[in-house]
Amino acid sequence: MSAVENTGGPTPGRLKGRVALVSGAAQGIGQALAIRLAQDGADVVIAAHKQPPDATEAAVKAAGVESLVHHVDVSLEQDVADLAAAVTDRFGRVDILVNNAGAYPMQGFLEMTYEQWRETFAINIDSVFHMCRAFVPGMVERRFGRVINVSSTSYMEGMENYTHYNAAKAAVVGFTRSLAIEVGPAEVTANVLAPGLVRTPTTDSGPQADGMFEGFLAEQALKRTETPADLAGAVSWLASEDASFVTGQTVVVDGGWHFN
Ligand SMILES: NC(=O)c1ccc[n+]([C@@H]2O[C@H](COP(=O)([O-])OP(=O)(O)OC[C@H]3O[C@@H](n4cnc5c(N)ncnc54)[C@H](O)[C@@H]3O)[C@@H](O)[C@H]2O)c1
Repeated sequence: MSAVENTGGPTPGRLKGRVALVSGAAQGIGQALAIRLAQDGADVVIAAHKQPPDATEAAVKAAGVESLVHHVDVSLEQDVADLAAAVTDRFGRVDILVNNAGAYPMQGFLEMTYEQWRETFAINIDSVFHMCRAFVPGMVERRFGRVINVSSTSYMEGMENYTHYNAAKAAVVGFTRSLAIEVGPAEVTANVLAPGLVRTPTTDSGPQADGMFEGFLAEQALKRTETPADLAGAVSWLASEDASFVTGQTVVVDGGWHFN
């Protein structure tokens, strides 16, 4: 619709000396976040599922920081324990934890099976539990940490075919606020990033793509489609010293689709 794009860019050195972990970093939003954190100076753990995160790894390496690629199903406790062991072995810690991995299969409620409900909860919220159980105790011990959990503004609005997903993304917010209170005394922050509709390989294909971008553009205040680059600056800021007094918040980056 419009040629205008996000022209924001890295803040070199902002996260120097930090170790970041981004889940679901092989493509889409997670890829953009992993690359931005690397460009800002953090060493990056690229947590990928089945897809080899070659492009992410190349861009992270090009930023001149250390990286570790690890394949993991973040909905499985043992897989996450194996990831934690590999990260501890390589870097000794995680300072910035970005729980981005998620999935949003369309399914009407009237035909939804309990299995579909459970699968969506497993990837979108059980994963956050496993990852935080694995990495937050170390943050508390070291008295520094940034937890950034990716939710979605769709849970605030409600959306057909997404009862399971929106319930799980709402749970991410309730979880994060309560976690923020528990870990705040140790100078660890926990915040939520809530994107609107972002063009990624997944949203750009399949049945959910039909007419969806046009529908969002009509409702957004800003008349261009959100891209992963639009989220990178918010995550860089939340991870930085500049946001050291920001916790328990939901940072909405959706071009003005939803107003709180
Ligand atoms: N794209 C959007 O419009 C949008 C909007 C709001 C919120 N979100 C959220 O942002 C996050 C990223 O979305 P995206 O559009 O980039 O998705 P995507 O499908 O393009 O990428 C998701 C990534 O998560 C990984 N993943 C899936 N299941 C996994 C598992 N069990 N263990 C580990 N990794 C797994 C995939 O391999 C993939 O790399 C998700 O949490 C999504 O719910 C996306």
